[in-house]
Amino acid sequence: MFVGYSEFSMITILHTKDDLSKHLKSLKNKGETIGFVPTMGALHAGHLSLMEEAMSLTTTLVVSIFVNPTQFNNQNDLEKYPRDVSKDASIIQERLGSKNICIYAPTVEDVYDDEVSAKKYTYDGLENVMEGANRPGHFDGVGTILEFLFKLIKPDVSIFGEKDFQQLQIVKKLVKKLKLPIKIKGAAIHREPNMLAMSSRNERLSKAARMQAGFIFKSLELAKSHFKVHSVLQTEKYIEKLYAAQKDITLEYFTIADEKTLKTVTRKSKDRTCRAFIVAHIEGVRLIDNMKLD
Ligand code: PAF
Repeated sequence: MFVGYSEFSMITILHTKDDLSKHLKSLKNKGETIGFVPTMGALHAGHLSLMEEAMSLTTTLVVSIFVNPTQFNNQNDLEKYPRDVSKDASIIQERLGSKNICIYAPTVEDVYDDEVSAKKYTYDGLENVMEGANRPGHFDGVGTILEFLFKLIKPDVSIFGEKDFQQLQIVKKLVKKLKLPIKIKGAAIHREPNMLAMSSRNERLSKAARMQAGFIFKSLELAKSHFKVHSVLQTEKYIEKLYAAQKDITLEYFTIADEKTLKTVTRKSKDRTCRAFIVAHIEGVRLIDNMKLD
């Protein structure tokens, strides 16, 4: 895999913000529009669908590949996160070609200089629930890296997967608060054949566990049917009971929340759309998913 600043037949991979700025400046001078998909690598079909969406809306695609240390509150998770930029670049090239695609794969130093720390962000309360409550500092890290990337790349459009539904809402809020002229678009969750939501973390599961993890989607479907005829509390209790009977899957949380405010709901109402959010662990791997309930 060619790494550098050429575009004969290989994909353009840049490792420094200065090189990326120069490259983007020349593209923008030519009138190109920029679609941006931020990733932490270990690319799968879900990421590729985000990239395809970006390419359908703009003339140039920028993909960042960076395992952002400040959004991990668990050192073990950070260390075990899969990293292989050459493989990721080959996947993009094979599936999407190399024309009008640029990868930014920086080092930690290029992004953070010598101060690897997150800024503090508030997102009108969206950060205080679910992933924000269970992973302290996570959305400060996400805000820090995305503010950096958005200001560097200045994309017209940026696409985020709905698997991380809370992140998507937070990114919309971030862009609004920072008054950045970027359109943030959500894209539907991509699933494996057993309906497990695609995630780079799935790579860490054994074959058997990966099969078993299809239970997470099944439990969301069961929650959806249960919710049609039972209360919020009854549905939550039902799901907790389902997981208590599982030998190899542990439930971290199951919450029914308002899709817009992400606030937990205690009773049904016609005035809002409810969504179920779940995190479960299999073989020590933390898996996340969600589903619209009504
Ligand atoms: O969703 C992710 O992979 C990350 O949170 C993101 C948006 C690339 C920021 O590091």
